[in-house]
Amino acid sequence: MKRVAILISGGGSNMLALVASMTGDHPARPVLVASNDPAAMGLARAQGLGIATAAVDHRPFKGDRVAFEAALLEPVLAAEPDILCLAGFMRVLTPGFVARFEGRMLNIHPSLLPKYPGLHTHQRALDAGDAEAGCTVHQVTAVLDDGPMLGQARVPVLPGDTADALSQRVLMQEHRLYPACLRRFADGQAAPLFL
Ligand code: GAR
Repeated sequence: MKRVAILISGGGSNMLALVASMTGDHPARPVLVASNDPAAMGLARAQGLGIATAAVDHRPFKGDRVAFEAALLEPVLAAEPDILCLAGFMRVLTPGFVARFEGRMLNIHPSLLPKYPGLHTHQRALDAGDAEAGCTVHQVTAVLDDGPMLGQARVPVLPGDTADALSQRVLMQEHRLYPACLRRFADGQAAPLFL
């Protein structure tokens, strides 16, 4: 059984979708949910499900990413994860942290990468007049929102869409895509999934 640690920063709806999927004959189980924000709603939600949690506030580290990551590593390594899933984790990780989990760290990003790495993806898709938007699950490398793609799901951009409306439509697909990609990854399937 593969052990999965999940890093979050906010509500944790993707984390909940991942956790809900890891039952029965699924080859993985959640062992830790960790956040850089002690007030993240997702932490309370994970606790409610009986999952071990850890909070390492990034703010006292005042921009010292390496020191923050060293503190974050403690509970993460203690959980002995085989796979690390970033699920709405909003801190950029240093190459040193990424290297520790090379080939076994996944991320979900709310755009059709390589379009719109970084923030404000939905507004950028609207501003560009795109007919489609979506989300991407990929392996994490030292380059932000880059790395081998594991899957993508698409949604239409509708007339009158706002960034909020579009983000909700994409989020519903994130909740389908990420569990499906994690399962395939844990099973050793390499081919990307398109929903
Ligand atoms: C999700 O839309 C996720 O794709 C995005 O943050 C949201 C987190 O929601 N992640 C990023 O933008 C990462 N760069 P959640 O906390 O409800 O899962």
